[in-house]
Amino acid sequence: MEKKNIVAGNWKMNKTQKDAEEFIKNLAPLIKSCRSSVYIAPSFTALSQSLDAAKETNIIIGAQNMHDETDGAFTGEISGIMLKTLGVEFVILGHSERRHIFNEDNSFINRKVIRALKDGLEPILCIGETQKERSENKTEEVLEEQFCASLKGISKEDAQNIIVAYEPVWAIGTGKTATSEIAEHVHLFIRKLILKHFDKEIAKNMHILYGGSVKPNNVEELMQQENIDGVLVGGASLDYKIFAEIVNKA
Ligand code: PGA
Repeated sequence: MEKKNIVAGNWKMNKTQKDAEEFIKNLAPLIKSCRSSVYIAPSFTALSQSLDAAKETNIIIGAQNMHDETDGAFTGEISGIMLKTLGVEFVILGHSERRHIFNEDNSFINRKVIRALKDGLEPILCIGETQKERSENKTEEVLEEQFCASLKGISKEDAQNIIVAYEPVWAIGTGKTATSEIAEHVHLFIRKLILKHFDKEIAKNMHILYGGSVKPNNVEELMQQENIDGVLVGGASLDYKIFAEIVNKA
């Protein structure tokens, strides 16, 4: 099967149910003939409406987070099975905002990845270094640690359902995109990590997305890189016309 690029939108804490529905209805006709798979992650409260609006379109709906337990006394949390029974197909895990603002560590993220796979959700595992780590030349060390610890115990069979997103923390929401050379260099490093950790087939097939200030004016150059299989878009995914432009250029 041909490997399709993925363009994923992460709305973060934005959009009500009505906003989400309108966005999807406006976006769908604009991206009907795009070459990529299109993923959107609304907030939990807009998932139902988004799933309804996305029926009969090529848009795949996912969540931005989940808990690692199935049920229990975890006030304010949402489980994978709740998402799956709603019709959700993927879940973003280990986003830098979860790691840095909500102090999620690799072992918690690892448990979430394992649970998401059990629940039949496709995890998008985010990894990325901070500006400080980059300037101290620790990028590869940090990425390897995040990658290996977050995917601990994952079988080769399960690895086939995982997407990795490289999101340098210094490029998220800052307008500073990694140059395509920097991004490709890191993506190649991640590709080698996948090979080391799993096997050649999985390394070839696993999608590695780039995220961090992706915009209509930089998406083409990023997508031309050999090891960039798609993008994860935050700010620029909030306007349907801008997001459609990114999807159609990818
Ligand atoms: P950004 O966010 O596109 O606004 O930089 C990307 C992300 O956090 O996934």
